Amino acid sequence: MTDLAGTAIAAYRKIYGASPEFVARAPGRVNLIGDHTDYNEGWVLPMAINLGTVLAAARTPNNALEVHARRMGESVMVPIGGELPAQPRAPWANYLLAVADQFRSRGHALPGLRVLVDGDLPLGAGLSSSASLEVAFAALLNEMLGTGLSRRGVALLAQAAEHSPYVGVQCGIMDQFASALPEEPAAVLLDCRTLATRPVRLPAGDGALVVIDSRRERTLAGSAYNTRRSECEEACRALEAASGVPLAALRDVTPAMLDEQGAGLREPLLARARHVVSENERVLLCAEALEAGNLPEAGRLFTASHESLARDYEVSCPELDTIAETAVGTEGVHGCRMTGAGFGGCAVALLEQDALPALRKAVREAFAARAWEVPHFHPVKPACGVECFRLETA
Ligand code: GLA
Repeated sequence: MTDLAGTAIAAYRKIYGASPEFVARAPGRVNLIGDHTDYNEGWVLPMAINLGTVLAAARTPNNALEVHARRMGESVMVPIGGELPAQPRAPWANYLLAVADQFRSRGHALPGLRVLVDGDLPLGAGLSSSASLEVAFAALLNEMLGTGLSRRGVALLAQAAEHSPYVGVQCGIMDQFASALPEEPAAVLLDCRTLATRPVRLPAGDGALVVIDSRRERTLAGSAYNTRRSECEEACRALEAASGVPLAALRDVTPAMLDEQGAGLREPLLARARHVVSENERVLLCAEALEAGNLPEAGRLFTASHESLARDYEVSCPELDTIAETAVGTEGVHGCRMTGAGFGGCAVALLEQDALPALRKAVREAFAARAWEVPHFHPVKPACGVECFRLETA
């Protein structure tokens, strides 16, 4: 990502004919395990990756927020005098407006601003391109306006932006935390109730992680995501009523309680609860397995997680299922799962480094046989969270 800062600065100069004052970069993330658990106050194990979003920006005397997205070749100019109007024709710009609006609603006046957006993260593929854009802009405004937010504060503001009408996805906290928080290149075990974190270092050696982009567009992501979320709330209320035990979230449901009380739940609520309860267990076991250097066990948990997301949570798709099945049948692959919200997007495989060519070949062949688009492979490494700096020459 470092070279990207240079590219973004050069692009800013070219587009706006002046030098930027600030550069911010925020990584995307791959979630190693723990999907659809964050908004149930459970555990997740995301890892910031070496692909992300970079912003270059400077204040201007104009009463407007001007933004150019280099990779899309699109620009918007939004007046900042009154309410910031959403941009239906440039949905990417709404993430920035949502963040700017959060600063305003906390009493901070917005200066006239020019922003150049760049990055090397696949867009809309389930690697948190939106969270990394929100986090990068929140960190940039935090620095520029001197608002003194901590990394956690930046993440929480970015999440509030995602919930706002500009975006309207009732996401959990995982993506913004993964992009904002890590102070060392490691995965982060996050307790989404207490927001306590623990870095989980990947074992040194021949193990590797590869992200496989199915190229299947995540069209249902927003609406079906919100439906899953309300199904979980309903399942929790029903289990509370049946058990007489106060339950703040599905996090509080034990496997034994689900066995005893689950029969009273209507489908698909039982299946949704079964996923969340079992996934929480897998996250904690997987963190331990990785810390102990036990890649076969971590991989087994990856694969079990995929099956649960596909069967019980119903957020997979034929492309992701094919990737997972093919990967698991390839020598040297420990496990594979869809990652993130699902409904398309990416899978992540845990494998021995030298198994990558065989995996690539097998998945490509499986896709070609079904006449699907060629999947993209991104070997990923852990990265640190967001950083923002003021350029000395500005
Ligand atoms: C999206 C959301 C996250 C999380 C995942 C599923 O990425 O933004 O908060 O719920 O889906 O695990």
